[in-house]
Amino acid sequence: MKKVTLTTLMKRYAAGEKLVMSTAYDAVMARLCALAGVDLLLVGDSVGMTLLGYENTLPVTMEDMLRHTAAVRRGAPESFVVFDMPFMSYQESDTQALHNAGLAMKTTGADAVKLEGGAEYAPLVRKMTGSGIPVMGHIGLMPQRVQLSGGYKVVGRDADSAEKVLQDALALQEAGAFAVVLECIPATLGKRVTEALDIPTIGIGSGADCDGQVQVITDLLGMMEFKPKHAKRYADAGELITGALKTYADEVKNGTFPTEENSF
Ligand code: KIV
Repeated sequence: MKKVTLTTLMKRYAAGEKLVMSTAYDAVMARLCALAGVDLLLVGDSVGMTLLGYENTLPVTMEDMLRHTAAVRRGAPESFVVFDMPFMSYQESDTQALHNAGLAMKTTGADAVKLEGGAEYAPLVRKMTGSGIPVMGHIGLMPQRVQLSGGYKVVGRDADSAEKVLQDALALQEAGAFAVVLECIPATLGKRVTEALDIPTIGIGSGADCDGQVQVITDLLGMMEFKPKHAKRYADAGELITGALKTYADEVKNGTFPTEENSF
């Protein structure tokens, strides 16, 4: 497989091809995503909920993200890998943010970083891109602000908040972001922002008109009990895995595993 670079992605965007992005947190899943032709792998801070058992993304650390991103890179050397900046790894100061983004790029082999935030982060995005770090923005629903917003709610339903989403997207583009994730905004607004930008919009719960889509891998594969409205289950991996493990447990208990074939 050929390495997917920023140039590859921009060529696909210019040709009107939809961009496909999924989260991945480990080498095995990253390999499977790459083999399936997923363009971009996001090592999302959603790892906190999907793999680490936290209630939200806030406890996720730089160390967690560095370890998972390096694993994804090892599993999928040719994929475009995006490192998600975890809560409080960039909010304290631009110096802290540049240090942590640099660490991510230097030590994990990530191709880009993603951060949550709108126009207020444009000066930081400009510094990052000015230093050679490709940045993906993330606006609309921002899970790292869940304590402030009081839950995971659709953003941009009224005229003022819709205008703010649009202005945030334009500010990030102006600051040099190469793409913007739009999370849980009305489909009509997703279309409006996509039409206003010259960089790709990657939607999650933001309608079919975005230039690409991103989904959380455990939602796509049906591995968690909860299914968000924006997700579609393409497999029932949870059921498959439980069924297989139940058969294993039964066979150990009733003595049908291991057989001679599995013995030395
Ligand atoms: O962490 C994550 O998985 C994300 C996606 C929901 C975009 O940020």
